[in-house]
Amino acid sequence: MTADIHLQESGISNSHYNTTNLLATVINLFAAGTGTTSTTLRWALLFMIKYPKIQDEVQEELNRVVGVRQVRVQDRQNLPFMNAVIHETQRLANILPLALAHKTSQDVTFQGHFIEQGTMVFPLLTSVLHDEHEWEKPESFHPAHFLDKDGNFLKRDAFMPFSAGRRMCPGESLAKAELFIFFATLLQHFRFTPPPGVSEEDVDLTPHSTGSLHPQPHQLCAVSLM
Ligand SMILES: *[C@@H]1O[C@H](CO)[C@@H](O)[C@H](O)[C@H]1NC(C)=O
Repeated sequence: MTADIHLQESGISNSHYNTTNLLATVINLFAAGTGTTSTTLRWALLFMIKYPKIQDEVQEELNRVVGVRQVRVQDRQNLPFMNAVIHETQRLANILPLALAHKTSQDVTFQGHFIEQGTMVFPLLTSVLHDEHEWEKPESFHPAHFLDKDGNFLKRDAFMPFSAGRRMCPGESLAKAELFIFFATLLQHFRFTPPPGVSEEDVDLTPHSTGSLHPQPHQLCAVSLM
């Protein structure tokens, strides 16, 4: 409201900085900034209960490098295995397979195809995140995709869950920090297992699609370690 009053006082009637746009921006901030991170964390915990040996390795590294003190963002560079597990979670979970709709700002010819100015374009992230020419095991949870032979973290060009180009996700660095802090702190405090009576083989990784890809509704146990 105050924004509109200021605009009226200043005599500007066509500003983008109005209440309607403020509301839309705040909704976007919450929808894009929290839903994606929580969905990725749910996938990460699901992978941990499905693959307990990988969870062992994450916790061994965390215990060795950080111990019981509070996890900090700077710890990420000393936790290459955890970093690889988080990247592999984002790659395999592929939570926004269509990314977001874009529009061509001018006529373009791309790989022999003419695309007229103003055409809606979806950058299909599945095609790169699950590309069999880029990944040794495209359909498996394989953190070694992001590790060199000495166990150092390895950047991969085909890792683009935040899309690419000038209109890629503006929240990338915030999301990466959040995923790291939340995942590391959860794994520092809890051991995650399937609920009693459910075996690891029964843990279902088939995504539930609502445009974005979520885990199926499921239960898991968090056993306190501290
Ligand atoms: C706010 O600005 C947008 C353009 O950015 C315009 O479409 C909309 O009608 C404006 N809303 C109000 C309440 O002025």
